[in-house]
Amino acid sequence: MSDTSWRVLPHDPLEQLGDRLYRVEGDLPNLKIRRQMIVLVEDDGLLLHNPMCLDEATMARLLELGQPTWVIVPSGFHRMDIARYRERFPGITVLAPRAGRARIEKVARVDLVYEEFDGTSHARIEYVAGVGDREGVLVVDTEEGVTLVFNDVLMNIPHFGGVMGRIYRWIGDSGRPTVTRLARLAIVRDRRALARHLRTLADTPRLVRVVPGHGTPISDDPAGALRQVADRLDPPRT
Ligand SMILES: [Fe+2]
Repeated sequence: MSDTSWRVLPHDPLEQLGDRLYRVEGDLPNLKIRRQMIVLVEDDGLLLHNPMCLDEATMARLLELGQPTWVIVPSGFHRMDIARYRERFPGITVLAPRAGRARIEKVARVDLVYEEFDGTSHARIEYVAGVGDREGVLVVDTEEGVTLVFNDVLMNIPHFGGVMGRIYRWIGDSGRPTVTRLARLAIVRDRRALARHLRTLADTPRLVRVVPGHGTPISDDPAGALRQVADRLDPPRT
């Protein structure tokens, strides 16, 4: 049976990223890499990407923005708090990528897989090419422009300490946007297809921001960042 007690791990305050978009970054147990939750304010409720249990003051701020309506569990490895959200907000619609469904459903019911989701006023989800149906990208289109929200396939982790931090830095998996070595092993099945899709996404009109699965959002030349990641995955032939 799932543990539905509202377990709050240390996290930062709710931070506004753009119009209708908010973010909370918080700790993971026994890991230096942090997780993040993205909140999109729709006209008729909140869309939460990778929800995490927040302290009551932050939950009160969140609920001032709206009621949780759609909740995205972006992979089978991001299911940590979904049973707690199911318990606290029974009316939510839970969305997940098809490949993650079985693992997520060991703790909480999934209502729709990505291809069954018609989108909302400001958001839609597409699978990321080259990773099968393991992960998608949330495409948020608001008044200011388009934000792309990824999961583990794209990270932008700051450098961090310890032995792991030194290894990440040495292999180039921290300090810049990248598809990490671990993601290439665990998620990516076709690097060229992924690179092609990242280049296509870089051409998105009105692109203002890329939000990686873990790490710092990119609003300074997000298209250029996606092209650089694609070029490292699949170097252009001269
Ligand atoms: Fe992750």
